[in-house]
Amino acid sequence: MNILVQKNYDDLSKKCAELIKAQIAAKSDSVLGLATGSTPLGTYKELIRMNHAGELDFSRAIAFNLDEYFPIKKSSDQSYHYYMRENLFKHVNFAQTFIPDGEAPDAAKECAAYDEKIAAQGGIDLQILGIGNNGHIGFNEPDDKFTSATNHTLLDESTIKANARFFASESEVPRHSLTMGIGTIFRAKKIILLASGAGKADAIFKATRGPITPQMPASVLQLHPDVTIIADEDAAKLIQ
Ligand code: PGA
Repeated sequence: MNILVQKNYDDLSKKCAELIKAQIAAKSDSVLGLATGSTPLGTYKELIRMNHAGELDFSRAIAFNLDEYFPIKKSSDQSYHYYMRENLFKHVNFAQTFIPDGEAPDAAKECAAYDEKIAAQGGIDLQILGIGNNGHIGFNEPDDKFTSATNHTLLDESTIKANARFFASESEVPRHSLTMGIGTIFRAKKIILLASGAGKADAIFKATRGPITPQMPASVLQLHPDVTIIADEDAAKLIQ
């Protein structure tokens, strides 16, 4: 694992955007895996700036998002469809974008179809991840086994609490999601995991230095051949 410690959130965001720019420069038709949550927002702002400045062209690039609540309407402003549209997709020029469908009538079919779509595009070249306080990646929550394929999953109580800040109340947070599986994520050729703030320090310590266990889903990344963790000093404070 390559660990890049940045002074603050702004530097973390710029570093991640630079690495995405380098990926597109090396392969204009890259397949990017993208994440939601608070952490990637600065990266997306910087990608938009680069795109508008003519430094970065997504016109041959394809994006697959990690996950979506289930069920949720695409039009809901808590959906990840809404988040991605508002924070990135409507501002830049991706050739195609994909997000699991929180309105799908059959969740299992939607999950299987999502993995097929990723495979049909040749797999993910660069996957961006956040990390939950509990070590989840995507919505793969601590469990007694690692998930493989994209799956319909129950959210952890701690994730419901953490994400309640985006909803009017905790009771409105959907209890389920559709998420790329650990196997889906692991097949990405390169992975960048972002972590900002002291609240992530324990998860970053356990994910990078602790045992590889499905109780700390991000720990599986220790086995991947090309992972870069970009953490600010607060998130990296237990590993420095
Ligand atoms: P956050 O979420 O970026 O909002 O902290 C990360 C995650 O839950 O994966």
